[in-house]
Amino acid sequence: MRSRLRAHGVTTPWVVIVTWCLLSLTAGAVAKENTATDARRFPPSYITIEGHENVTPDQWTDPRVCGQCHTRQYEGWNGSMHSNAFKDPVFQALWALGEKTDPKLRNHCGACHTPIGVSTKTVEFHPDQGLHGRFTAPDVAAKGVSCDVCHTISGTNLQKTAVLEHGNASFVMSPGNTKRATLDDAKSPYHETEYSEHHAKSDFCGNCHNIFHPGNNFPIERTYDEWKYSIYAQKGVQCQDCHMVPVDVAKQVADKLQRPEELGDLGLEGFAGLGGPWRKVVHDHGFVGGNAVVTAALNTWDANNEETLGVQTNYQEAIRRLQSAASLKLEVGAKAGALHQLKVRVTNERAGHNLPTSLTEVREVWLEVVISDDQGRELMRSGTLDADNNLPKDTVIFNAHAVDENGQDTHVPWEIVRFVDVNTIPPKGYKYGKYYFNLPADAKSINVVARLHYRSFGQKLADLLLGKDAVKVPSVEMVKIEHSYPVSELSVADASGSGH
Ligand code: HEC
Ligand code: HEC
Ligand code: HEC
Ligand code: HEC
Ligand code: HEC
Repeated sequence: MRSRLRAHGVTTPWVVIVTWCLLSLTAGAVAKENTATDARRFPPSYITIEGHENVTPDQWTDPRVCGQCHTRQYEGWNGSMHSNAFKDPVFQALWALGEKTDPKLRNHCGACHTPIGVSTKTVEFHPDQGLHGRFTAPDVAAKGVSCDVCHTISGTNLQKTAVLEHGNASFVMSPGNTKRATLDDAKSPYHETEYSEHHAKSDFCGNCHNIFHPGNNFPIERTYDEWKYSIYAQKGVQCQDCHMVPVDVAKQVADKLQRPEELGDLGLEGFAGLGGPWRKVVHDHGFVGGNAVVTAALNTWDANNEETLGVQTNYQEAIRRLQSAASLKLEVGAKAGALHQLKVRVTNERAGHNLPTSLTEVREVWLEVVISDDQGRELMRSGTLDADNNLPKDTVIFNAHAVDENGQDTHVPWEIVRFVDVNTIPPKGYKYGKYYFNLPADAKSINVVARLHYRSFGQKLADLLLGKDAVKVPSVEMVKIEHSYPVSELSVADASGSGH
């Protein structure tokens, strides 16, 4: 297979992949790296279905059915980003732009956002609906990453991927009556159960939380990789240990670098299912990151609609999660004459991957800094959103700068060939923001206020995807530090400079 692809002497299934690659990318980059060893059923994704020739939507169960006996899991999942993975209007808009560029992106994007839709080939595109077009899928597939998606996954395909790593939907699904997770003694009146080691590990999440460009293999979203080479992985701390427990517990996990079960009694006990025994640990299913904030802003949160109630809890947890992630430290020193420098150190204290992670080319984590003196004069300001909700050019921002094959800036994933600048903060690592200001001769003290903010994406991208002024992108203050320094404390770092 490999050599056939290299030689471009391809037969049917490859024609699709290669034609697409040739259209959108430099052919060399494509042919060189692809080491896939089998014909993919849903290319370019790596989804495989075990034991079925063809699958239909009725082979998966609606989450509401599972929720009848698994109330707690349902309440967490309902309104989560996993439950919104298909409906998410931001996703739908970008996916539609992708579809109009190249229809083969349908399976690539859909594989993680609606695995049931892709594997049953039931996703439909309506180019004339909405701003950019809209996708529909049968009800059970439109539930995105649902209970029955995760709990019928029976393994990983990583050995088949071009990069020999988890990603691009590298999972095996075995839809049917057997539900898999990490209880080795579970008995259910409704379904068979099977112990699955895979579900206990980050690898399970990595099948979807690692994205490489399906043509040029460039790692676009690397949450799993970032975790894999972090201190957390070295200590055996998994994604589940932070994202399937309340944020208060996740904070202890991050600070002590221990798994929840090693931390003693944390109040995680309960029933895992109706009629089952009392369990020491039941897992949260809200999978909260930072994004519930956007869901709320997009009006998918409706107090009268039972379907959206989980968003409220997830919204609060998302804010708590963001507010637990980082710390700030200030260092002020004289440079030369009246010129002074402020350094703000931002440490990624509690994210098990880079801060931010995943869509680092669109996520925005930035510093807002204001320096004033005792007479109320503003000496320096940076990172304050303008009237149009945009960031000033000089803002210190922690993200990645993506470009296309011509070196032009791009935010659309299918155009990305490389990052020209990566300024995300590694786990337990730190980065500095540096600022300069002039100290007036008559100032007696200065006051510094620094804030770290998060938002899912900038206003311009929101305007492009959702329509001008459709939504004002909200931001969350992750952490704030404020400190006053008497002028006498601002030590003269540069011996040649003594102006005051
Ligand atoms: C009629 C009630 C009922 C329904 C409906 C139900 N379950 Fe269960 N399920 C249980 C019980 C009871 C257990 C065992 C709980 C225990 O042992 O603590 C269980 C266990 C599980 C487990 C743990 C398996 C393991 O080995 O770790 C998973 C996963 C699961 N169910 C998923 C689902 C999914 C997905 C659905 C919907 C397709 C569903 N359940 C529908 C009652 C139900
Ligand atoms: C994104 C994947 C994912 C989704 C979606 C998901 N689960 Fe789970 N679930 C897991 C994982 C992973 C575990 C095991 C966590 C561990 O042991 O570390 C788990 C554990 C469980 C368990 C065992 C008891 C426990 O809490 O550990 C049950 C029961 C369960 N899930 C039911 C559900 C139901 C019902 C839904 C839908 C409302 C659902 N799950 C949605 C991934 C998922
Ligand atoms: C390998 C699985 C995978 C593939 C393939 C994938 N995504 Fe995603 N996508 C994710 C995950 C996981 C997230 C959540 C990351 C996060 O929020 O930090 C996400 C988040 C997003 C978001 C952000 C949504 C929001 O509300 O902020 C957009 C937009 C998106 N994806 C679009 C796409 C498009 C378009 C494609 C195809 C070009 C695609 N995705 C392919 C897994 C995938
Ligand atoms: C079948 C693919 C799939 C699997 C498996 C999966 N995820 Fe996700 N996950 C997604 C997608 C897609 C999104 C983003 C949906 C969107 O933003 O539109 C997402 C979103 C999330 C978010 C919310 C991100 C935010 O910005 O708030 C977190 C946290 C998360 N996943 C953690 C996990 C963890 C932990 C696991 C493993 C236990 C896991 N996921 C397994 C596909 C998956
Ligand atoms: C030590 C705790 C910890 C571990 C382990 C951890 N995370 Fe996170 N995660 C966080 C914190 C804190 C945030 C919020 C800050 C941020 O966005 O990075 C977060 C955010 C996220 C987000 C949302 C990012 C965004 O802004 O769009 C996703 C998706 C996610 N995590 C997935 C994962 C996956 C997948 C794993 C395992 C490979 C994992 N996390 C491991 C703590 C953790």
